Amino acid sequence: MAQTLVCVPYRKSQTEVCATFLILPKQKTAEQSIKALRDEIRRHDELYYLNENPEISDREYDALLEKLRELESRHPELITADSPTQRVGGKPAESFPEFMHRVPMLSLDNSYSIDELRAFDERCRKLAGGESPEYVAELKIDGLSLSVHYEDGSFVRGVTRGDGSRGEDVSSNVRTIRSVPLQLNKKAAAIAREIEVRGEAYFGRRIFERINAEREEAGEPRFANPRNAASGTIRQLDPSITARRRLEMFAYDVFAGQRKAFATHWDALNWADAAGFRVNENRELCESVEEVIAFCNRMEAKRDDLDYEIDGVVVKVNSTALQEQFGATGKAPRWAVAYKYAARQATTKVNDIVVQVGRTGALTPVAMLEPVQLGGVTVSRSTLHNEDEIERLGLLIGDFVLIERGGDVIPKVVKVIESKRTGKERSFACRPYARSVAGSFPGRKAKRFRAALRLTVRPS
Ligand code: IVH
Repeated sequence: MAQTLVCVPYRKSQTEVCATFLILPKQKTAEQSIKALRDEIRRHDELYYLNENPEISDREYDALLEKLRELESRHPELITADSPTQRVGGKPAESFPEFMHRVPMLSLDNSYSIDELRAFDERCRKLAGGESPEYVAELKIDGLSLSVHYEDGSFVRGVTRGDGSRGEDVSSNVRTIRSVPLQLNKKAAAIAREIEVRGEAYFGRRIFERINAEREEAGEPRFANPRNAASGTIRQLDPSITARRRLEMFAYDVFAGQRKAFATHWDALNWADAAGFRVNENRELCESVEEVIAFCNRMEAKRDDLDYEIDGVVVKVNSTALQEQFGATGKAPRWAVAYKYAARQATTKVNDIVVQVGRTGALTPVAMLEPVQLGGVTVSRSTLHNEDEIERLGLLIGDFVLIERGGDVIPKVVKVIESKRTGKERSFACRPYARSVAGSFPGRKAKRFRAALRLTVRPS
């Protein structure tokens, strides 16, 4: 083990300062670890918010942030104002005018288990003085949050969340979202002169697939997921591109000026529905945490049948008065929590590519992965379908990749993380390998293999 000689001064008496020499194993100081973590998180922030091209899943990002938080809590003297733990979100892109949110757009604390959900309920009951509050459970749409402003019933602006305090004014793009009315009807508009509706902009699965197919055809990189596509689209400088792509928005909050517009969250959602916004029909007013848990489980089973991506359920205290009483910790309200479903994307290394021979003789290249936890199981293989797919992805053996596990059990490789390349990666020669497999079988079987080869592996 590498060792370091460390000089440790100590005071022997009032006047006499001595030094002793210790031999310590070489390890990172807390300061170095904190700096390295911050640099890493900032790099991922930039990839996520500015390039819309993340390399890691949300959960992996949360784990990095949590590690940093934990280190900083043990060394509070090292906390700086610019640490990623001290702000709500990403920094606004430069090309749109800034808009200062009237009420900060907060983030949500996450819970990853039913036990954590019960702990949230316990905290709420304590804060409510022992009473059991009503909750609204609704879907957590995997998109990007928007704030839409109306004056005297007319749309005036649409703003992204940005860093939570200041967002970007992307009005020309928000105007193209059909589920955002440009004019509120008289009855809806009557609640206040200044109305703000917040919600989640997203792409439906089919539209997302269409956008990626078009991008591929144009030689542009695919979006890793609908959320990145939505985020990239809302920042388009040319609104006609946004209009063509058909972004949608589910509304989830309503403000009158700087205050919540209704006495309950349930009423706010119903107002938004009647006012012409799209409000997700999968919502429930729950009397107890048991009802919330049942909703979470029911929706998880339904997750793959929805035409849009969700990453969990948001649970909110229904009463606005209680929400105001509970308040917020720096970044998240105490009256709401996100119950997150198992992540569907993760990063890992492709240790090898092998060709699998199916029962019918079909040859399928398979990526052998460094085992990784994904959606509650350990994943160590991923199908690559055919040689074209390897070419499309630009995949080399030794590459780090973003993998995704949808409703089906077999995960797929979404993209290669090129920035992690070391130069030691090597390409996979599919055709010669497949031919040698076919060649090693006599007679009819070899014929079948050759036929399969023509179907699954491009002839040279
Ligand atoms: S409420 C203070 N409701 O999740 C409450 N957020 O992780 C703030 N999101 O920034 C948000 N679906 O972009 C709320 N039904 C929903 C949501 C939702 C998706 C997003 C939103 C927020 C993020 C927090």
